[in-house]
Amino acid sequence: MQRVFSGIQPTGVPQLGNYLGAIRNWVRLQDDHDCVFCLVDMHALTVFREPAQLRQDSLAQAACLIASGIDPQKHVLYNQSAVSAHARLGWIFNCVVRLGWLNRMTQFKEKAGKDREQHSAGLFVYPALMAADIHAFHATRVPVGEDQKQHLEIANDIAAKFNHDYGVDFFPTIEPLIPPSAARVMSLRDGTKKMSKSDPSAQSRIELTDTADEIALKIRKAKSDTEPLPSENAGLAARPEARNLVTIFAAMSDLSNDDVLARFGGQGFGPFKSALAELLVEKLAPVASETRRLLEDSAHLEQILREGAARANAIAEPIVTEAERLVGY
Ligand code: ADP
Ligand code: NA
Repeated sequence: MQRVFSGIQPTGVPQLGNYLGAIRNWVRLQDDHDCVFCLVDMHALTVFREPAQLRQDSLAQAACLIASGIDPQKHVLYNQSAVSAHARLGWIFNCVVRLGWLNRMTQFKEKAGKDREQHSAGLFVYPALMAADIHAFHATRVPVGEDQKQHLEIANDIAAKFNHDYGVDFFPTIEPLIPPSAARVMSLRDGTKKMSKSDPSAQSRIELTDTADEIALKIRKAKSDTEPLPSENAGLAARPEARNLVTIFAAMSDLSNDDVLARFGGQGFGPFKSALAELLVEKLAPVASETRRLLEDSAHLEQILREGAARANAIAEPIVTEAERLVGY
């Protein structure tokens, strides 16, 4: 079985875009892959976080994943910082990666903007740690969105340079797993911005801990327009808010946008939003209530993460120990 590595930043409560674009796909991968699910708290630290908040977000993230169907018994779910292999291989990779490669990373340029000098060095070398996360497990498959493809390319470049410099064939090539139907979910307040847990407006997103009432209210208040829905997806081209709501409906019910419009085309947003709210409540409210239930017993969640860290360590320790031997430690 191919080993899959997936990392998610424990920063805030997961939102619907994380669920449809990542988490749901991870749940499906468990059937035919050997999966490592890592809460990347070391990456979260690249931007200052309140310590208590970081700990709380890690637990919330773990609870959401388990409630969504990640199986921490059959697969591995743990905190990155609990397994020293990440930091150790991350350092070796910092010494392999070239500054020129890091300078070309578009995500750092976007995140740092003009005041580049004010950002942490950790944010800049993030791609080397991400490469270490994957290679510490000899994982060969990583589920990523379009925006993360450059990170996999640099992870492969780092591994190739390591193999070349030390004259070995130690780290395998990683291939991206692009989910067949990764929906891109946009903000409920602005159809041109992606839904994000870091958006200052909580009304812009559905969180995986929202109650049924909160979900219904957010959909009712979601930005739309005054035209009836078209009968085909092509008719949504210049209507980002409408297209987003149709895309969410389609993704939640595993249908195409055209299938959804065959049912709702010609109608206004009133009945469509009611049906969408009902669908989201039916599918997400059980996940949300299970998440809240798991969060009530943080000692149990911490125990699950400790066991996950022990299993992650059993896989990564021999690989990283060998990498350390190869570099001459
Ligand atoms: P956020 O912007 O909410 O902080 P992250 O950047 O932590 O999300 O992304 C975590 C995962 O969720 C990634 O795999 C990313 O591709 C996916 N993801 C995040 N937001 C969306 C979205 N709006 N639509 C689809 N997928 C998303
Ligand atoms: Na983010």
